[in-house]
Amino acid sequence: MKTATAVAHSNIALAKYWGKADSERMLAAVPSLSMTLEALHTRTTVTFDAAIPADEVLLGDSPAQGRARSRVVALLDRVRRQSGLVQNARVVSTNNFPTAAGLASSASGFAALAVAAAAASGLSASGEELSSLARQSSVSAARSIYGGFVALGAGAEFAERVAPAESFEASMVIALTAAGAKAVGSSEGMDRTARTSPYYQAWVEHAPAVYERARRAIIDQNLEALGEAMEESALMMHASMFAARPALVYFTPATLAAMERVRALRTEGVPAFFTMDAGPHVKVLTRPSFATRVADALADTPGVLSVLVSRVGPDASVEPS
Ligand code: PMV
Repeated sequence: MKTATAVAHSNIALAKYWGKADSERMLAAVPSLSMTLEALHTRTTVTFDAAIPADEVLLGDSPAQGRARSRVVALLDRVRRQSGLVQNARVVSTNNFPTAAGLASSASGFAALAVAAAAASGLSASGEELSSLARQSSVSAARSIYGGFVALGAGAEFAERVAPAESFEASMVIALTAAGAKAVGSSEGMDRTARTSPYYQAWVEHAPAVYERARRAIIDQNLEALGEAMEESALMMHASMFAARPALVYFTPATLAAMERVRALRTEGVPAFFTMDAGPHVKVLTRPSFATRVADALADTPGVLSVLVSRVGPDASVEPS
């Protein structure tokens, strides 16, 4: 029996990834850049054991089924192929944040699974190899292998750290809003955008320049420049989705109210900038000294159900046994 437990932190893209250059190989069409979140993590234990009759996958307290299970098994298969192991595995994974709220958990989930499965199998995988392993399950998971600020190039096999957590003081305030109808998942959503949106090509053409501005702003430790590039990236991505057929509208009235609140905070001199992913929640970048003020303002916004605050998080790691 071989076992290992790993912890990986969630990440929020400041410059967004939306669209694949190669769906088979899980390669992104545009470069992306994220902040790893200290407050949100997944802890996953993988045990390879000849006595297990078939792979078992427990997410929270419930056995995973259908596509959720097969995506986990596909990663285990890649690790088995690379390490030469043939045993079945038991996977037990928990998030320290409410999964039902619709916060993306695939990034931290697949990063933790990649690190735990590689360690349990005895593979001595580098950060690049772990990032590549996670990317093949969920592109954004490639970035959760590293802490701090992390980039994944267009067509890249693995992510790279742009700046360590301690080099740039930032907080992310996450406003969880009431979800409307069940959202279209990111893979299906980006595929639909690429196939049907007349603005998809424009997005692919313009995303690299916005990414480059965000990257430069992190190196220059310029939160305002980073925030401006971050808002542009999110709005450009959502514009390409709006023009898909059928349209992909992830915003709800609460999303718009929270965005408005962030703009109002800026007129009061608070450095705060929003971004939204494939869901209705609003994530706000600010300086740690303003995080409480931003959190209070968002908590007081109609349609906002709860607010989480996070600093910049660390690398994914194996827990000492
Ligand atoms: O890798 P996925 O399938 O979780 O897609 C992530 C897409 C966005 O969250 C919208 C953007 C991003 O770069 O994380």
